[in-house]
Amino acid sequence: MKVNTLLVAVAAGTAMAAPQLKKRSGFTFFGVSESGAEFGEQNIPGVWGTDYTFPDTEAISTLISKGFNSFRIPFLMERLTPEITGSFDEGYLNNLTSVVNAVTNAGAWAIIDPHNYGRFNGEIISTASDFQTWWKNVASEFADNKNVIFDTNNEYHDMDQTLVLDLNQAAINGIRAAGATSQYIFVEGNSYTGAWTWTDNNDNLKSLTDPQDKIVYEMHQYLDTDGSGTNEACVSETIGAERVKSATQWLKDNGKLGVIGEFAGGDNDVCRAAVKSLLDALKENNDVWLGALWWAAGPWWGDYMFSMEPTDGTAYKGMISTLETYMG
Ligand SMILES: *[C@@H]1O[C@H](CO)[C@@H](O)[C@H](O)[C@H]1NC(C)=O
Repeated sequence: MKVNTLLVAVAAGTAMAAPQLKKRSGFTFFGVSESGAEFGEQNIPGVWGTDYTFPDTEAISTLISKGFNSFRIPFLMERLTPEITGSFDEGYLNNLTSVVNAVTNAGAWAIIDPHNYGRFNGEIISTASDFQTWWKNVASEFADNKNVIFDTNNEYHDMDQTLVLDLNQAAINGIRAAGATSQYIFVEGNSYTGAWTWTDNNDNLKSLTDPQDKIVYEMHQYLDTDGSGTNEACVSETIGAERVKSATQWLKDNGKLGVIGEFAGGDNDVCRAAVKSLLDALKENNDVWLGALWWAAGPWWGDYMFSMEPTDGTAYKGMISTLETYMG
């Protein structure tokens, strides 16, 4: 920026623009989950600094400078609202909101992720109207922030399939009723929202409706033998593409959009190739796939095999050069 331009801008009282994110050629969303606020789920509400923490906004800035533009922020519903339809714990809400605002003020996307597996206090959420109220209350807090995305819930599993449909629809209805009409909504499916098993389990979710037409189907895909993301070995160099093939076709057949909300692989050459295979398959089909998010960064991962936390996380050191290719 030329000095005299800067002086003119300051003199005119022009607000400084948010940092410009790198221009994207392939994906709308390329990012990472930011763990911390969902940790210690065996202790509800738990103690800040002991059971859970919040993501480090300095670390998020570093990841933004690398080219990530989307940050999924997991937290626990019970900590935000001790009663599902009740009022907020203001301290937890403020801390969550601070992270969201740090992300969105930098021009990136903040994905609000109740990391609850379709459960509340350990019980399957069975009353869709309660879930609708919860989402209406939460979305009201973020209704004016256009860079927020709402993720209805992390990884529904072992639930009635019609209930998964009804809960997602209730979330959409609650969010829109709160006046949050501009934001994307990421819906998730049953069976841990796996992409590789999506068509076997979640076909009924194609009937979800949104008056704003901004539904994105969030699927998760790991590359180890059982697809759970618990092993640092990947099945083969081509497993990434293989595991999203049927879901890609489902998105196309039904005129839907998708995002891989979690993926990862260990710090080894087979996994680096497998990750590339996954991302190439998504990029080739970016008419239906809007992007992908690595699992996961966060200040408390220590030596976790998939840690993307700057600067000494295992994946930050070993995988970022593979991922950088997809950010520009
Ligand atoms: C919020 O974060 C502050 C530190 O910034 C901490 O002292 C406080 O306990 C946190 N509150 C909750 C409810 O997480």
